[in-house]
Amino acid sequence: MDFEQLLKQRYTTKHYDNTRKVPDETITKILECVRLTPTSVNAQPYHFYVLTGAAKDSLRPAIMDFNLQRYDGASHAIVIACKTAIDEEHLAKVLAAEERDGRLPSAEIKAAQDKSRHYFNNLHVTKGDYTTWTGKQAYSAFATMVYAAENYGVDSTALEGIEFDQVNAIMKLADKQETCALIVVLGYRAADDSNQLTKRPKSRLDLADLVTYLN
Ligand SMILES: Cc1cc2nc3c(=O)[nH]c(=O)nc-3n(C[C@H](O)[C@H](O)[C@H](O)COP(=O)(O)O)c2cc1C
Repeated sequence: MDFEQLLKQRYTTKHYDNTRKVPDETITKILECVRLTPTSVNAQPYHFYVLTGAAKDSLRPAIMDFNLQRYDGASHAIVIACKTAIDEEHLAKVLAAEERDGRLPSAEIKAAQDKSRHYFNNLHVTKGDYTTWTGKQAYSAFATMVYAAENYGVDSTALEGIEFDQVNAIMKLADKQETCALIVVLGYRAADDSNQLTKRPKSRLDLADLVTYLN
């Protein structure tokens, strides 16, 4: 499908059909797309927790009331967590993956890549905006997630209407030096979903309001 068309047809689902579950293989396909998200210095400073069943239910106290219906109706909740501190084990894994994938043809290039990635990570620690920086990468992954979902016929809702501290506490994210960036729920829309495009057409500002060309 044309990508613009995909963006036009994807919308935020408000009411899900709670009898339908996204198949595991579709969730894996969506996550495979998410895995390909570009990140600053390829740091991939995030982790995705895929919640169903009792694990999903255990997070309900952290969901604001107005979001509970969608949270309950969707079959999956994905907690997108981002790093709050430099994770050396993670950075070593990134470097090993780059080597495995053929991006580091010599020891010098490998050392330079590792140095550069540490430089940018440390820069954000020094600036005191490390979690802001990792959170931006998490939001990039969010965008990949919802459009990959749409591509596979799965509906989605981003949830910022959550109690972040409670998500962190329930998921014990501080123990992993992570914090919740946002939650995305995935499922299939109810036939009478109030937000579907025939009832509530998509609306955005015009390009002229959003774009300035400078020569
Ligand atoms: C980061 C983010 C957080 C959002 N949080 C919520 C939320 O908590 N609950 C909700 O119903 N919709 C939420 N939305 C949906 C937005 O209201 C919606 O994307 C916007 O109105 C545009 O509509 P569309 O997604 O249908 O094109 C969120 C969207 C984004 C991108």
